[in-house]
Amino acid sequence: MLEQALTGTRLISLPSLSAADLDAVIAYAVGDGGRVCAVVDSFPVAARDALVTGLAKLRPVEVLDRVVPDPRVEDIMAMAARVRATKPDAIVAIGGGSTLDSAKALAMLAVHEGDLEDYLGPEPRRKIGGKGTLMIAVPTTAGTGSEVTRFGVYTARGGRKYTLAHPALQPDIAILAAALTHSLPPAVTAATGIDALSHALETIWNRNATPASDRAATGAATSILEWLPVAYQSARTGGTAGRAEMLEAACRAGTAFNRTGTAMVHALSFILSEEWHVPHGVACAFTLEDAARINGEDPEIARKLGRILGAGGDASAGAPERLAERIVSLKRAVGLPFTFRDVGAEIGADDIGRLFAKAFGDPKMRNNAVPVEEDRVYELLRSKL
Ligand SMILES: [Fe+2]
Repeated sequence: MLEQALTGTRLISLPSLSAADLDAVIAYAVGDGGRVCAVVDSFPVAARDALVTGLAKLRPVEVLDRVVPDPRVEDIMAMAARVRATKPDAIVAIGGGSTLDSAKALAMLAVHEGDLEDYLGPEPRRKIGGKGTLMIAVPTTAGTGSEVTRFGVYTARGGRKYTLAHPALQPDIAILAAALTHSLPPAVTAATGIDALSHALETIWNRNATPASDRAATGAATSILEWLPVAYQSARTGGTAGRAEMLEAACRAGTAFNRTGTAMVHALSFILSEEWHVPHGVACAFTLEDAARINGEDPEIARKLGRILGAGGDASAGAPERLAERIVSLKRAVGLPFTFRDVGAEIGADDIGRLFAKAFGDPKMRNNAVPVEEDRVYELLRSKL
């Protein structure tokens, strides 16, 4: 399987996951008596809670649930104190991207000294040495792909979001069980699904792209364009159609951008999340169609975007615009934003340069296949006032 070659994480795919199944995977990884820290979101989720309760009947489990969206260093350090005291054999993360990212930092901090903030930023005070505690990732959203990447995103005490990238953050095992995504509400389905689409597209218009990352990302993007509206409809009606396809596509997109990193859409999204706490996927939706048009100015990228739409040869000339229109209609269908007002951001034309200049110090911005000048981005953002 191509995706397995793009990630160091061992992938297990099951329609549903019982506590006995999860216990068997843990036993395979660390043995029968292994101690586990389970990292979960702080709010109740019936299927996940049943899984953790069932697991705790089979082996010692310490539950850590201090996880918020855009996970914060102070919460992770509070959990790290417990992990360092418990010295678990495995860390099992069951949740969305914030939970999985928190667990990655905890697995690293279990065997490294200091504060998470020491490891963040362009000139970190400490460097990650080697591998952390064994980690098993069980995603309950179809979006971040965090279960198969070496990235974690953390909000420092000052409010700035940083991406930490290191092979030590790569989960050892990921278990995809679509049943765990069945209860996702419509808004979360939309936001996490468009995040996955942005990962696939930002891999394709990435200057680090390879033939293998292109192939995985193209497959993921085609699948998400087809299945996200179906999964969104399922979320509204209580059905399950599209859930398994979205979980697989989001994971495939994760394996793709694990090789390339993301680009302008993500760099700009961080400012929206830092300033106005816009959920990550919603913030990624904000400039996705614009980035398709900008990067599509490169003929090679236009050809690659054409492949997503099933167009070959000359048809690729109009592909960026057609893809941008597909993104616009998808965003309309699932209620994602186009303007600052849509994301609840109060901002004037004079604020744009001041607030968004930080995005140009983000290495992700330099991954764009078509270099983006500050003035061009500010003009684009002013059109969204
Ligand atoms: Fe993302």
